[in-house]
Amino acid sequence: MTPRHVTFEVDGLPLDADVDPGQVLRTVLREHGVHSVKKGCDAGDCGACSVLVDGEPVHSCIYPAHRLEGRAVTTAAGLGTPEHPHPVQQAFADAAGFQCGFCTAGMVVTASTFTEADADDLPRLLKGNLCRCTGYRAIGDAICGVSNTVAPADGEAAGRSVKAPAALRVASGSEPYTLDFRSTTKLLHLAVLGSPHPHARITSIDTSAAEALPGVHLVLTHRDSPATLFSTGRHEDREDDPDDGLVLDPVLRFRGQRVAAVVADDVRTATNALAAIVVEYEPLPAVFDPETARSPGAPLLHGEKTVEASRIAFPERNTVAAMHDETGDVEAGLAAADAVVEGTWRTQRVSHGALETHASRGWLDDGGRLVVRTASQVPFLVRDELAHVFGLPQEQVRVFAARVGGGFGGKQELITEDLVALAVLRTGRPVQYEFTREDEFTIAPTRHPMRVRVRVGATSDGVLTALHVDQLMDTGAYGNHGVGVMYHSVHESTSVYRCPNKRVDAESVYTNNLPSGAFRGYGLGQVVFAVESAMDELARELGIDPFELRRRNVIVPGDPMVVTDPDEESDLLIGSYGLDQCLDLVEQALESPAPEGAPPAPVGPTWVTGRGMALAMIATIPPRGHFADTSIELLSDGRYDIGVGTAEFGNGTTTVHTQLVASALGTTPDRVVVRQSDTDVARYDTGAYGSAGVVVAGKALLAAAHKLRAAMVDRALAIAGGAGHAVDTGTAPEVVAGGVVVRVGPGVDATVLVSGDRLLADGPLTADGSHDGTPRSVAFNVHGFEVAVDRASGEVRLLRSVQAADAGVVLNPEQLRGQVEGGTAQAIGTALYEEMMLDDEGRVLTTAFRNYRMPKFGDVPQTEVHFATTHDDLGPLGAKSMSEAPYNPVAPALANAIRDALGVRPHELPMSRDRLWRLAGGR
Ligand code: FES
Repeated sequence: MTPRHVTFEVDGLPLDADVDPGQVLRTVLREHGVHSVKKGCDAGDCGACSVLVDGEPVHSCIYPAHRLEGRAVTTAAGLGTPEHPHPVQQAFADAAGFQCGFCTAGMVVTASTFTEADADDLPRLLKGNLCRCTGYRAIGDAICGVSNTVAPADGEAAGRSVKAPAALRVASGSEPYTLDFRSTTKLLHLAVLGSPHPHARITSIDTSAAEALPGVHLVLTHRDSPATLFSTGRHEDREDDPDDGLVLDPVLRFRGQRVAAVVADDVRTATNALAAIVVEYEPLPAVFDPETARSPGAPLLHGEKTVEASRIAFPERNTVAAMHDETGDVEAGLAAADAVVEGTWRTQRVSHGALETHASRGWLDDGGRLVVRTASQVPFLVRDELAHVFGLPQEQVRVFAARVGGGFGGKQELITEDLVALAVLRTGRPVQYEFTREDEFTIAPTRHPMRVRVRVGATSDGVLTALHVDQLMDTGAYGNHGVGVMYHSVHESTSVYRCPNKRVDAESVYTNNLPSGAFRGYGLGQVVFAVESAMDELARELGIDPFELRRRNVIVPGDPMVVTDPDEESDLLIGSYGLDQCLDLVEQALESPAPEGAPPAPVGPTWVTGRGMALAMIATIPPRGHFADTSIELLSDGRYDIGVGTAEFGNGTTTVHTQLVASALGTTPDRVVVRQSDTDVARYDTGAYGSAGVVVAGKALLAAAHKLRAAMVDRALAIAGGAGHAVDTGTAPEVVAGGVVVRVGPGVDATVLVSGDRLLADGPLTADGSHDGTPRSVAFNVHGFEVAVDRASGEVRLLRSVQAADAGVVLNPEQLRGQVEGGTAQAIGTALYEEMMLDDEGRVLTTAFRNYRMPKFGDVPQTEVHFATTHDDLGPLGAKSMSEAPYNPVAPALANAIRDALGVRPHELPMSRDRLWRLAGGR
C-alpha cells in the first residue's frame, strides 16, 4: 500500500501529509495534532468531527483524505479562538449551548454555515450532528442568538446563570479532552482480540506469529495478567463490589471479552496483528436470560469463586446480590384493599451514547511512576484500584482526567486503564487504548435490563394498603455496579410512598450477555417505570385523579423513609421538601393553555390523545460514604486557586464550584482558577457519582472558602495594626484590583485595604475544606406529558412535556434547566426507541449510531421546566443535586399518557412504534 502525498490547508496553514489508501480526513487531522476535530463514531453518524472543506460542512471521518489536494479545511479552531471567537462560538457560550461540549466543535462548524432563514429548518439541518447531553433546546437558542447567561457582580454568582469557565474554549475546539494532546515520546497503540464465544475457556494461545510482525512490541494474554481479582465498577468502599474479574481472564464470559491485546506502533498494525494470534477454546454452556440463569441446572459463570473471596452473594445460582424483605404483611394488605393492580414491566438494554468514547493513555514519568490520563468520572478510585491490582503503592500511581466528553455513569468503569497500565509497565513506553463506537456498543457496560413485577393495593379513598416490588435484573457477565444498582433501584422508588405493608424481592443475576453498569438514575428509572405505571392504573381503578392519589400517599416531612425495615438506621433525610410543589406545578402547567410553538394535535380518525404524569425521588448523595477534600489558595493577583478532585464531564460542577467560591469570597467566578480531577494536584474525592459534585465537593469548597475568608480578615487586620481582633460581619472580603478590602464590624469600625502582595508577604493564605457526604438529602421530580398516538401506525407525537424539579436553592438556573432537558431527552430516547438488540446468543446487533437511534434535534420536544422553591438545610447554600434525577419519571409519565390515549397499557420499553401498533390493535 503506497501512501499518497497531499498538500492542503488547515485553518489557514499549509499541511503536507502522506495519506494511506482508504485513510479519512479525521485521522489525518488528529495525527497532525489538530485536536479541534473530535472522534465520536467514525461512521458519519454523529458529526463530532464536522469540518468545512472549501466552505462546505462534511463529516471528516468519512471524507477520503486522498481528495484533499489543494483544498482548504476549516475546523472550529479556524473559525475563531477563545480570545477572538466567531459569532456562533460566542453565541454557544452565551446561550450555555453545551454540557460536556464534545459535540460542540462540530456543531459550531455546521452552524457557521447557517443563514438567518435556516432557523426554522434546524431539525433537518442538524440531522448529522448528535448531542447526548443537552436535549438540543440550548443549541437551538445558541443558533438563534438567544443569550441565557449573565456576568454577575462581585459576590453575587450563586443563583445566577453564569456561563461555564471553559465556554469559549469548548466552542472554539481548544478545550483538551482525554486524547487531545501529543505525546512527547513515540506513542504505542493497543488493540484487543475479543472472544468469539459467549462462554469459553482458553485452552491454548499462540502469540508468536503476531509478535514477529513488524511494528508489534508486545502481545498480552492471561499469562501476563495480575492474579488479583477486581471489579471494573468501584465505590468508595471497594468491598461494595464483587471481585469477579481479571485484567485478562482465561475464562471468557461474554462475546468480545478480552482474549489478548497487541501493543504496536500504530492502531492499524496492532489491529492487523490480532488475526495472527492463534487461540483454541473450549466452549462452555451459556445462559442469556436471568430467570433461567438463577434456576437450578443453569450453567454457572462464577461457580468456582467463593463467597468470602468474591463477595458474590450466591455463585452457585449466578446471583451477585439479592434482597428479600418485608415490613407488615403484604398479603393481608392486598386482601384488605378495595382495588388491587398487578403487572409485570420490562425495560431494555440501553447504551450511554456519550460522544467521547472510553479512552486512556499511560506512561512512566521521570521518576518511574505510572501515570494514566483517562476519560474517567472517578480518577481517585481508578488510582486506588490500579494500585491494588498491580500491587503498587498508591503514591506510585497518578491518574487524571481532562474534560470528559460525557459519562452518564458509563465512565465510572475501569475498562481501558488496567490494560494500558499493564502495557506501560511491560514496555516502559507510552501506550494508548481508545474504544471505537462499536466497542462502546459491544463491550462497554450498559443500562441494566430489568423485569419488575408490581402488586399494589389501596382502599376506596385511595390510601395504600400494600406495595410489593419484585425485581430481576440482568447484570451480564460481571457484577460491576450489579449490587449497588439493585439496592438503589428498589430504594427511593418504594420509600417515596407511605404504606404499612411493603415487600421487596430483588435479584441481580449473571448471564453471558455483555456487562451492565452504572447509568443515569442508577436503576431507579427502570423500577420507577413499573411502580409509577402501577400507581396510574390504581388511580384509574379507584377513579381518583393520579396527582391526587400521589398526594394522599407520598412521604411528607416527618415520615420515616421506609423500604422494608422501619427500624433501619439511615442517614437519608428530607433536607427540604418540594414534592408537593412539583405536583402542583406540573398539574397546573398541563391544565394551562399550551405555550406558543407547541405542536398542534394531529387530526384524523385514527389519532387519539392522552395525558400522563409520574414522580420520582432520589437521594442526593450515594450511600456508604462519599468524600471530598478541597483546598483554596489566595493568589497574589487577587484570584483564588481551588483544588477539587471530582471531574467535569458535562455535569456542570466546575461552574457551580466557581460560583460557590466566588459568592463566599465576594468576587466573580472568572477570578476563580480550578485545578481538578488529578490525583497529584487535587485532594481526595470519591468522584462524580450520584450527582455528588455539587453537594459534597461543593460543601467542602464552601467550608474552605469560609475558612480562607476568616484567615484573610485576620491577616488584613494584623497588617493594618488596627483592632486587636477581627469580627466577621458576614460581609465577604472583596477583591479589588489586586487588593483585598476587608470590612469588619462592631467594635472594630474600620475598612482595611490591603494589597494582595502585602497580604501574602507573611506567607501563603490557604484553607482546606472537607465533607463526608452525610447526612444525605432527597430531591424530587415530577413529569407530565400530553401525547397524540396514531392507532393505525403506533406513531407517538409529544404535544406537551413538563417537568418540575425540587433541587433546593437553584445555584445556576440555566445550567439546571439544561440538566432537566438533557435528562428528559435521554429518557424520551429510552422510552420510545433506543434499544440495544442482542440475538439469542448474546451477540450485539446494534453496533453503530445509525441502527441504534439516539434522539436527534427534531425528536426532542421543548420541555417546560419549573423549579420548586425550597432551601435544603443539608446542601451548599440550600442546593441539592439534580443531574441524574430528571431521567427517572419520564418513561412512566409517557407510558401513562399513552395508556390514557390508547386505553391499553404499555408494559415494555421502548414503547416503539411497532409495539404500540400491536398494542393498539390488540395484536
Ligand atoms: Fe453535546 Fe455533550 S454537550 S454531546
